[in-house]
Amino acid sequence: MRIIIMGPPGSGKGTEAALLIKHYNIPHISTGNIFRELYKDRTTVGKIAKEYIDRGELVPDDITNEIVRHRLTHADAKKGFLFDGYPRNIEQAKAFDALLVKLGWKLDAVINIKAPDELIVDRISGRRVCESCGAVYHIHNKKPLIEGICDLDGGTLIQRVDDMEETVQRRLRVYNESTAPVIGYYEKTGSIIHIDGTKSIAETDSAIMKALGETN
Ligand code: AP5
Repeated sequence: MRIIIMGPPGSGKGTEAALLIKHYNIPHISTGNIFRELYKDRTTVGKIAKEYIDRGELVPDDITNEIVRHRLTHADAKKGFLFDGYPRNIEQAKAFDALLVKLGWKLDAVINIKAPDELIVDRISGRRVCESCGAVYHIHNKKPLIEGICDLDGGTLIQRVDDMEETVQRRLRVYNESTAPVIGYYEKTGSIIHIDGTKSIAETDSAIMKALGETN
């Protein structure tokens, strides 16, 4: 299965990705997570990416497309993948199409999670992520068993630097200007599934599974 999951920041892409990768046994390829890992490892690319991320801007396309090209050379990508947060503008979508043609692969589904700005601000302000494994929680909607501690590996739960309100507003502007047009791109070139992201996590899980033709 080869899937892209799209949607504004904080709409629930990472949360739903966790369900889908388990169901299909495919790797979760989040460009945001890759950049954060590269920064944690103190790489030059990671340091460059962090400057853009902290400002709420997109990392340049040449860096991002190369990261994706390289990631798809890993053996696990042969069994399929779920892209989360890529492509994020029309240029990236075209570069990704060209790469898939070269690899002889086709996308099976593009999932677009829709959510209004006020909901996004609430979700992002309550989000906590595991410092070591990146697992995603929410102070009200998805609480860990022990406050401040990751259920999966015992890591400390923190707030992302780019989750501060001013940066979130910029991320939303960038989304509307650069990423929203990608929805139209996939509406023209393939099948896109629109999902109402305002429902609970469980209801959103079911809606996605139903839209993909899976019984859940
Ligand atoms: P990235 O890490 O991709 O962030 P994002 O797209 O802004 O998305 P988020 O991770 O903020 O949110 P999400 O939709 O995954 O929501 P989540 O599931 O966590 O990118 C970060 C930065 O990296 C970018 O700004 C850019 O600088 C750079 N970057 C990344 N990719 C790039 C690219 N391709 N090109 C250039 N630059 C790139 O959910 C949010 C919260 O809500 C959580 O607390 C969750 O528990 C809760 N929640 C989720 N669903 C529900 C629900 N249904 N009901 C109630 N609560 C819910």
